Amino acid sequence: MPQPFYITTPIYYVNAKPHLGHAYTTICADVINRYHRMVTDETFFLTGTDEHGDKIMRAAKKENTTPRAYVDKISALFRELWPQMNISNDYFIRTTDPAHGNVVQMILQRIYDQGDIYFSEYEGKYCFGCERFYADRELVDGKCPDHQTAPETIKESNYFFKMGQYQQWLIDHIRQHPDMIRPERYRNEVLAFLREPLDDLCISRPKSRIKWGITLPFDKDYVTYVWFDALLNYVSALGYPEDARFDKFWPVVQHIVAKDILKPHGIYWPIMLKAAGLPVYRHLNVHGYWNVAQSKMSKSLGNVVEPLQLKNVYGLDAFRFFLMREMVFGLDANFNEEALVQRINSDLANDLGNLFSRVITMAHKYFKGVVPQSDPAIEAELSLGMPERIGRAIETYTQEMAGFAFHKALSAVWELINQMNKIIDVTAPWELAKAKSSLPQLQAVIYNLLEGLRVISGLIYPIMPDTAATMQKHLGYAPDQPFFKIETIKTWKHLAPGTQLPKSTTLFPRVEMPKAAAPSETAPGAIVPKIELKPEITLEDFARVDLRVATVLKVEPIARAQRLLKLEIDLGEPEARSLVAGIAEHYTPDELIGKQVIVVANLKPAKLMGVLSKGMLLAASSDSSDSSDGSQKQTVALTVDRPMPPGSPIK
Ligand code: MSP
Repeated sequence: MPQPFYITTPIYYVNAKPHLGHAYTTICADVINRYHRMVTDETFFLTGTDEHGDKIMRAAKKENTTPRAYVDKISALFRELWPQMNISNDYFIRTTDPAHGNVVQMILQRIYDQGDIYFSEYEGKYCFGCERFYADRELVDGKCPDHQTAPETIKESNYFFKMGQYQQWLIDHIRQHPDMIRPERYRNEVLAFLREPLDDLCISRPKSRIKWGITLPFDKDYVTYVWFDALLNYVSALGYPEDARFDKFWPVVQHIVAKDILKPHGIYWPIMLKAAGLPVYRHLNVHGYWNVAQSKMSKSLGNVVEPLQLKNVYGLDAFRFFLMREMVFGLDANFNEEALVQRINSDLANDLGNLFSRVITMAHKYFKGVVPQSDPAIEAELSLGMPERIGRAIETYTQEMAGFAFHKALSAVWELINQMNKIIDVTAPWELAKAKSSLPQLQAVIYNLLEGLRVISGLIYPIMPDTAATMQKHLGYAPDQPFFKIETIKTWKHLAPGTQLPKSTTLFPRVEMPKAAAPSETAPGAIVPKIELKPEITLEDFARVDLRVATVLKVEPIARAQRLLKLEIDLGEPEARSLVAGIAEHYTPDELIGKQVIVVANLKPAKLMGVLSKGMLLAASSDSSDSSDGSQKQTVALTVDRPMPPGSPIK
């Protein structure tokens, strides 16, 4: 039975063109929406524009145009941008839609009738940039903290929404629903706000000052204030009150916002819903800020990154991948082009792109591009472990995606990619191809790798839909037949032997950093090594690895695995251990016997080509798995520079 799923982005102000921040939130919503479609939920994805208020009126005036013409123009920029970024929204709401206005009036009237709205004179410090009054304690050096301008003192009569009376109810509700606001730091922030008494919320503006709003149903001389108008878009977009979509999707609604609008979404909105007699949202998912060159990215600071520009330079999928992989949902992140280029070259071109082209190229070279049969008995003999590896990757991936931890979901996929690249190195299909007798092994290895690629193409779909489709096409699926359902992705051996594969393609070419944005100057002629480090780890992470000195007792080749040697090592334990090492091309057995080597002693045992390996020998390698430059790879075993008792720990 499909479960309903409803996801929203903030509706963006039309006083600025779309920028990276808007793109990030909307891509997050798109990724989560595609993921839920993948797990067969019936989804509804909403985005749109927030078009009323002072700010918009002033922006229109600046452009010498009417508010109507102005909002039409900027709203269209957002609406036209999203399809170019593969955003799969079901609806695009505008607060100037008449149907939205009707819902706002209906709810305001309901809350007014029950006595939660009152009329009063108010004098206060008003920031025109924020469109709100500020209490003295909120100002920094007497200025608005966001705009760094002194607010103006204005006095007017207005309508107020009584929030204080719902304060205890909201505290209790948040406590009873621990994952209502997530990640937890933002839940704590909201609870901290709620330790202070809540001020009542001013919800109106006199028409004498602003006409560009929704008229209050109980006073024609006033329009409603920005949040009462804006937040209700999430309800009106579902066709409330009569449309069945409201009954289906409202009970499961989840919002995504950045931390800048935590207070309206974490406090005003649940209280408004409570007062209106509507259920509170299920989750508020709050992310951090993208900072450009260490400063908050915003149009007033003039350092806005054009998302479309970068997408055109580096490709849409690479751009989407970078945003999802680089930011830990909930924390701030720094945006810079260098990091983007680095991720493209290491994660996309090197890891995924290389794996894809190696496997498809080998399928063409050894099997004329026809998917080979794979014998389960041979798979068992080779102990490739693909179903288990895939099972583990899918389990972590689904868990992390559901919790908005996109970077962790992607790490799980990349672990599988790296394992598959290792399988190629260890099984060396080019060696298997040399003898007729190892044809069944070659078939099994290539088939298992193709199946792994199929699974990867499914898992990356929410983040990189175009790349997923390209991969599936090259795995022989017809364009009308791509599978993006988790049950199909999980189906082991879905790829039919005998399928003809189209010729290979490059998924992600390596890219160069543009000159002007290069990180630092280097002396002319200097050789700059291209080193791509793995992500930083802590001392505790490292301490989990048990490195020991071992003495090599015995060495044997392994049948059909020309790169591998079976070692027996003395680790100071009562019995010798067996260990498989991929160094047969670099050492003869005689060279190794008696040598003291360094091993990872607490690595989970695994079978390689049917031989149990309990640990891993450490070796230095002059090159990564990518030997496209034709250079000869050097591999040397690590050793100690004076004899040590076997089992000595390395600290
Ligand atoms: N119109 C209101 C929201 C009303 S929702 C009922 C508004 N609009 S906005 O155009 O200012 O958009 C704010 C949102 O844009 C943030 O919450 C976030 O989703 C996104 N971002 C804007 N700048 C951002 C960054 N620098 N980094 C990440 N996201 C940011 O507030």
